[in-house]
Amino acid sequence: MLKRRKMLRLFSLILISIMLILLIGCGNNDKKEVSDPEDGIETQEEVPEKDETPEEADKTTDDISKIGISMPTKSLQRWNQDGSYMQEMLTEAGYEVDLQYAGDNDISLQVSQVENMITSGCDVLVITAIDASSLSEVLKSAEEKNIHVIAYDRLILNTDALSYYVTFDNEVVGELQAQYIVDALDLDESDEPHNIELVAGAPDDNTANFFWTGSMRVLEPYLESGQLIVPSGQTAQEQAATIEYSMEESQKRMENLISAQGYGSEGTELSAVLAVNDSTANGVTNALIAAGLTAENFPVITGQDCDIASMKNILNGTQSMSVFKDTRDSSARVVKMVESIASGQEVEVNDTETYDNGNGIVPAYLCDPVSCTIDNYEELLIESGYYTYDDLDVEP
Ligand code: BGC
Repeated sequence: MLKRRKMLRLFSLILISIMLILLIGCGNNDKKEVSDPEDGIETQEEVPEKDETPEEADKTTDDISKIGISMPTKSLQRWNQDGSYMQEMLTEAGYEVDLQYAGDNDISLQVSQVENMITSGCDVLVITAIDASSLSEVLKSAEEKNIHVIAYDRLILNTDALSYYVTFDNEVVGELQAQYIVDALDLDESDEPHNIELVAGAPDDNTANFFWTGSMRVLEPYLESGQLIVPSGQTAQEQAATIEYSMEESQKRMENLISAQGYGSEGTELSAVLAVNDSTANGVTNALIAAGLTAENFPVITGQDCDIASMKNILNGTQSMSVFKDTRDSSARVVKMVESIASGQEVEVNDTETYDNGNGIVPAYLCDPVSCTIDNYEELLIESGYYTYDDLDVEP
């Protein structure tokens, strides 16, 4: 009897031990069982550690599917073009795209749009900042989530979140504008003095500094020698700056300069205006036309972007040149970068020295700007398919 009871106790001990072993085994389940529909065989697949969220792991090929594009304004032709080129190319490459415009250069709207892109699961952000310094706070959470951030056209300052910068060689843009003025006024061949006024870019756009540096590098010797004179005395970048590159602002400033300096066909001769881009050039042109100038006695006026309105002015003689920045190239460069990031390949850059955003050098890809005038616009813009003759209201 006693022997039988001992046997029973021993048996139940063995049973409890077996159950415990089984239980521990189930509790330690870091593998999940998956049945392969092909052959019915069960395989095991690693499941992420409990505390490793997808955001914390480095994004790999499959993780990159949604791209957020934040553009500054719809009121300038170029950002509409950049936005839709990138949207089209990325969509074609199979990505989901969230393209947002920050009203008309509304800084706080841009911050909240970027914030939404981060929380709604964008894996890469492509941002053209309105204000170079206002995105560092919101980009902290992009960094925490390992979201790749590409600064587009304009560098974003004081943040570690930037992966890359895609832009044009912006100092060269300024040099091309200034060199055009030097050549058009024949400054190297004669000592005759000429009056010039300077119109710079937006004070909160970091790119504006590069335009200014490039153009001043070329103009300074002539300003120092007195061959170029700025009658208004507004020779500092801050004095020449134009809020938001606004056409209305630059028109107002030119109207003031016209009345203060007496520029006009009967008055003081103005030989050139270094206008930083096409929207500011259009403002200058409007003010000069209102003051009675015509294509016959117009000063040399520069620009950049080859906007349709400016190209028409170039064709009718009320703007002299623009700088062509082929936004198809910069957009395609962004797409190429996204694809390299997604496939884990090395991202191609061509500048690893110039663009220090306050937190270190940002690797950059610079596209080439080209000077565009009435003499080469057909080759640059029409033959390349950027515009049609119809777009510019001209006969072939
Ligand atoms: C761009 C120019 C543009 C300007 C105004 C700059 O940052 O480089 O192409 O004309 O912004 O939007």
